[in-house]
Amino acid sequence: MKIAIIGAGNVGAMVASRVIDADLADVVLVDIVPGMAKGKALDISDVRPIVNSSANIIGTENFEGIKGSDIVVITAGLARKPGMSRDDLLKKNSDIIKKVSVQIKKYCPSSIVIVVTNPLDVMSYLVMKTTGFDPKKVIGMAGVLDSARFTNALRGKNQDIGQDNVLMMGSHGDTMVPINRSENISEKVFSEASELARNRGAEIVKHLGAGSAYFAPSASVFFMLKAIIKNEKKTMCVSAYLEGQYSEKDIYIGVPVTLASQGIEKIIEIGLTEEEKQAFKESACQIRESISKTF
Ligand code: NAI
Ligand code: 2OP
Repeated sequence: MKIAIIGAGNVGAMVASRVIDADLADVVLVDIVPGMAKGKALDISDVRPIVNSSANIIGTENFEGIKGSDIVVITAGLARKPGMSRDDLLKKNSDIIKKVSVQIKKYCPSSIVIVVTNPLDVMSYLVMKTTGFDPKKVIGMAGVLDSARFTNALRGKNQDIGQDNVLMMGSHGDTMVPINRSENISEKVFSEASELARNRGAEIVKHLGAGSAYFAPSASVFFMLKAIIKNEKKTMCVSAYLEGQYSEKDIYIGVPVTLASQGIEKIIEIGLTEEEKQAFKESACQIRESISKTF
């Protein structure tokens, strides 16, 4: 099993490190900055005797290195600076993602692609359209992260909450849609925790001053990679292409799915309240607006 990680910055390098630590698959790390992917790959490879991993890792500037990869993770692009929204990244990251998608189509035509670059739902759509891949094999990472942040925020408010009772659907942006299926959470706690989760990315950017979150994002990508490689058929929220589900089509947006060796095995349609339906619709509208600026 070979995983290509495009972009050897904070998220990409951390995903590579998690994969090698867990002995999950061989990795090729790619970045346009000369020497960066190679240097980080050498450093990560030296961890292997310590953690008893036999997985191989190489770093390169040359896209040919991704040839034959089973899964490609795209983390190439700019990250947010303080005060920037994810949509501010739209133009610059669209150009990068188009170029990267052409290379993936050329060298890994049968791969599953996990998109991380922001604005996430629009970039996932762009990768699917540019590669022409089966939408079940182009999957955006955000829901795992946003649902974890939401669960963490609730636990921080002393709520004994299982990860299956709450989730974040909708866009990876200001219109994300919190879902609660636990009867024990009061409206006040639910709304405070939703707000914390919604603003978590920006809160971290503000503290860091430069760059954005990467520990929880890389753990989220690893969670998805493991589900695919080990054919776990695990349910989780991802940005997926809808073809009528939730009354939406021709859009990437966060929904629960089952992830398995072929990518998205099934999009799960949970019953939504009228309020949740309305919030989901508004989130879809916001993503469509960004898509229309890109195409
Ligand atoms: P970073 O700036 O640390 O790394 C990005 C890397 O991409 C840089 O090393 C850069 O040289 C490289 N790059 C740029 N153009 C490239 C190209 N054409 N080919 C190969 N490499 C290229 O940024 P970080 O923190 O790793 O974030 C990466 C992206 O992921 C950003 O767009 C960020 O907003 C997004 N993100 C999304 C999350 C999500 O939940 N979906 C969570 C965290 C980050
Ligand atoms: C986050 O939510 C930057 O989208 C990234 O942290």
